[in-house]
Amino acid sequence: MTAASAAWWQRGVVYQIYPRSFQDSTGDGIGDLRGIERRLDYLTELGVDAIWISPICRSPMADFGYDVADYCDIDPRFGTLSDFDSLLTAAHARDLRVVLDFVPNHTSSEHPWFIESRSSRDNPRRDWYVWHDAAPGGGPPNNWISDFGGSSWEWDEATGQYYLHAFLKEQPDLNWRNPAVRDAMYEVLRFWFARGVDGFRIDVLWHLVKAEGFPDNPPNPAYRAGMGEMHRVQQLHSTDQPEVHAIASEMRRIADAYGERLLIGEIYLPIERLMHYYGRDTAGVHLPFNFQLIDAPWNARGLAAMIAEYEAALPPGAWPNWVLGNHDRPRIAAKLGEAQARVAAMLLLTLRGTPTIYYGDELGIGHVEIPPAQVQDPRELREPGLGLGRDPVRTPMPWDATPNAGFTTGAPWLPLSADWADRNVARLRKEPGSMLSLHRRLLALRRAHPALSIGDMALLDGVEAAPDVLAYERRHGDERLLVALNLGSAPQELALPAWARHARPLLSTLESAAAPSAERIVLRPDEGIVLARTSAA
Ligand code: GLC
Repeated sequence: MTAASAAWWQRGVVYQIYPRSFQDSTGDGIGDLRGIERRLDYLTELGVDAIWISPICRSPMADFGYDVADYCDIDPRFGTLSDFDSLLTAAHARDLRVVLDFVPNHTSSEHPWFIESRSSRDNPRRDWYVWHDAAPGGGPPNNWISDFGGSSWEWDEATGQYYLHAFLKEQPDLNWRNPAVRDAMYEVLRFWFARGVDGFRIDVLWHLVKAEGFPDNPPNPAYRAGMGEMHRVQQLHSTDQPEVHAIASEMRRIADAYGERLLIGEIYLPIERLMHYYGRDTAGVHLPFNFQLIDAPWNARGLAAMIAEYEAALPPGAWPNWVLGNHDRPRIAAKLGEAQARVAAMLLLTLRGTPTIYYGDELGIGHVEIPPAQVQDPRELREPGLGLGRDPVRTPMPWDATPNAGFTTGAPWLPLSADWADRNVARLRKEPGSMLSLHRRLLALRRAHPALSIGDMALLDGVEAAPDVLAYERRHGDERLLVALNLGSAPQELALPAWARHARPLLSTLESAAAPSAERIVLRPDEGIVLARTSAA
């Protein structure tokens, strides 16, 4: 691959925006599209290539936009279609791509399709959703459990059947076995592609098709109280059915018809099953999201094994990708603390494959405590106290030290991070050693070095002497870089491979420069470095 032959989404870095929390322009305490447009220069200055915006379509917001009532309109809280067009034009003028969230597994219960579907058993749209009679003795048709707890089936008194919902009862599952549903949803993709969007992140792609006959899911032997009720059973029959791949391929064909567009699939599955979503005989999505870093044990051996396993599993021609956080999972700095979150940022931005950065992680936002009275997330409200709530990772972006961190002139819909007066964009961009400055430098480095953006990668063997060090090489043409990350809090000495001796330090995660390298280098506690082979070596 050359810089010219690589697609934008291979060379580039994606930045996820949770639109309710990025920038409010109206004073209602909720972020919106005009707010995002106002902040585009921040994103280009940061150095990302694309934004993925979580759902902005018309929605009653039972699950904050993941319950869509009109796929071809913008929710008034976020703005209008013309605000969207303006944002898209402004983004493209800055060479920034725009990826939208596509929520195909379920609609809102207020979507006109569902209102028709539940109006009577013989309504033409009845079969657009998954309806089923009660079990012979009464009660739900099977033991499937909603991801948000409780049965996946909701009784509809008026028509005397249950409907399926993998998430909230306000999010009825569409019946993707019905060709009319497929056609209608593909029209949605075409609507936005024609408008100029550069791609979609496809919500819960692996959920779309359910096993014929709706057999019970097997119990999960690993289930323990406190895990969240969904884990009582294994989602063997309710997710990841073979028929889903034909659907992914159809979506891919539609995307390809519009030129270089991107499809990212949200899929939480073990590696071998995940790989199938790249497609086999026909192409699937470009990037099945790789969430392994989110749950990874934070040690050098574990990470090295995980990276090796993922790289080895990639089908020929498949492009890797990496994610450290999103709007559903705890923030990386909350889990690791800032010192290791900096090392994690270097890892994310130097691994082979497209990285996705979650808004606010570039500031090192940690855990945000949400007082019980302010909880918004239905996940937390349905199964409180288990630590499953997602509000802590969805708090407003702290821009500066003015009231409400410059996010809104009104009352923010979720509390700000406790340290916002210090940890905000205006402050951190002035500090050369800040988390934000580190991100900017890493992104600039990635852009300047094809070895990082599109090069090959090899994990370095022979680091047994430094058990806390994860080291790898990135290579493209004549360029050869070494990345070495100290995952521990003690200094680590590392013997360099012959080619990297006397290599030139390009960047350290610590404020002061990395030591010039010789035959051995000592990584300071929590230090990650990037070295470049000098032409003499
Ligand atoms: C995905 C989204 C999550 C949402 C769920 C239901 O996992 O990321 O936020 O609640 O799907 O749409």
